[in-house]
Amino acid sequence: MHAVVQHRLGGGEVLAVETVPRPMPLPTEVLVRVHAAGINPVDWKTREGHGMADVLGEPPFVLGWDVAGVVEEVGFGVTTLAVGDRVYGMPWFPRSAGAYAEYVTAPARQLTLAPTSLSHAEAGAVPLAALTAWQVLVDTLHLQPGQRVLITAGAGGVGHFAVQFARHLGAHVVATASAANHEWLRELGADEVVDYHDAGYETRITDMDAIVELVGGDESPRLAGTLRPGGIIVAVPGGVSEELAAAVAEAGGRATAFLVEPDAPALARIAELIDAGEVRVEVARTFPLEEVGRAHELGETGRTRGKIVLTVDA
Ligand SMILES: NC(=O)c1ccc[n+]([C@@H]2O[C@H](COP(=O)([O-])OP(=O)(O)OC[C@H]3O[C@@H](n4cnc5c(N)ncnc54)[C@H](OP(=O)(O)O)[C@@H]3O)[C@@H](O)[C@H]2O)c1
Repeated sequence: MHAVVQHRLGGGEVLAVETVPRPMPLPTEVLVRVHAAGINPVDWKTREGHGMADVLGEPPFVLGWDVAGVVEEVGFGVTTLAVGDRVYGMPWFPRSAGAYAEYVTAPARQLTLAPTSLSHAEAGAVPLAALTAWQVLVDTLHLQPGQRVLITAGAGGVGHFAVQFARHLGAHVVATASAANHEWLRELGADEVVDYHDAGYETRITDMDAIVELVGGDESPRLAGTLRPGGIIVAVPGGVSEELAAAVAEAGGRATAFLVEPDAPALARIAELIDAGEVRVEVARTFPLEEVGRAHELGETGRTRGKIVLTVDA
C-alpha cells in the first residue's frame, strides 16, 4: 500500500509517499481502507520533533490519527463492525495510528459508524478536533445551560466544533477570531465574537465560568483575568505553564491541562448531532495524499477556517 513515511524529523519536505506492507488486523481489530485523513496541528508538531514525537520514537513513522473509510476486514472476535461499514475515528492516540496511508488497522471499539450525511472528506475532518471539543466541554467542564464560556481560536478545527457544542449545551458562547470569521461564527452559535487583533481585547470579556483556550503561549495567562472567581481554564495546546498557574491563582480560578483520547461512544453521539443538522463540519481544503507537504504548510499558517483533510482514495 501507499503511505506517507518520514525518515527524519523536519519540515514538510521530510514527508514522502512510499510503498509499505499493508497491515493485518489482530484479534479485536479491523482493517480500514482509508478514504480521508484529517490533518491536525499535532501532526506537524510531531513531524518536527514536538507534539507526540516522544511517544512515536525515532523515525521512520507514518503520521496521522484522523481516519474516515470503509471496513475491509475484521479480526477474530469483532462483533461491533462488519466489512463494508463506513467508519470514522482517531484510533491509537497518542500512539502511532499511521492514518496518512491507504489502510490502517485499529481496535474495533475505537471506531464507530461515520455520519451518514457527510462525505468521506468531511467525516475525516471530525474525530480529533470534535472529540477535543466534546471531551473538554462535556467531560472536563461539565458545561451547564446558561454558563458563560470563552472559546479562543473559535474559527479553527477544534474551535468551530466547540462553539457549536457549547451552543447545543445551552451556554452563552464568546469566541475570539479575526473579523473575517465573525459572521460565520455567529451563524454557528456564538453569542459574542471578539477580534483578538484589537489591543486589550481581553478587557472586553468578563465573568467567564469557563475558558476553552486553544491558542497557547502568552494567550492563556492574559485571559485568566476574564474568569469569574471559581472559573476554570482548560489550557488545551500546552498545558498549564507557571505563568498561567500564577495568573489563574490571582483571579481566584483554576487551570487544567487536557489531552484528547479515543472515544467511539462520543463520536457516535457527535455523528447523531451532525446527521440531525445540529452541527456543521467546515472543510477549508482537501489535498491528495501526494500533496501532504503543501497541506501541512497551509495548516502551519495558523489561519485555517475549520479543517484541512487529505483524500486518500478519490
Ligand atoms: N491537548 C489536546 O488534546 C489537543 C487536541 C486538539 C488540538 N490541540 C491544540 O489546540 C490548538 C488548536 O488546534 P486546532 O486544530 O483548532 O488549530 P487550527 O485549526 O490550526 O487553528 C486555526 C485557527 O486559529 C486561530 N488563531 C490563530 N491565532 C489566534 C489567536 N492569537 N487568537 C485567537 N485565534 C487564533 C485562527 O483564527 P482566525 O483565522 O480567525 O485568525 C484559525 O482559525 C493547537 O495548538 C493544537 O495542537 C490540543
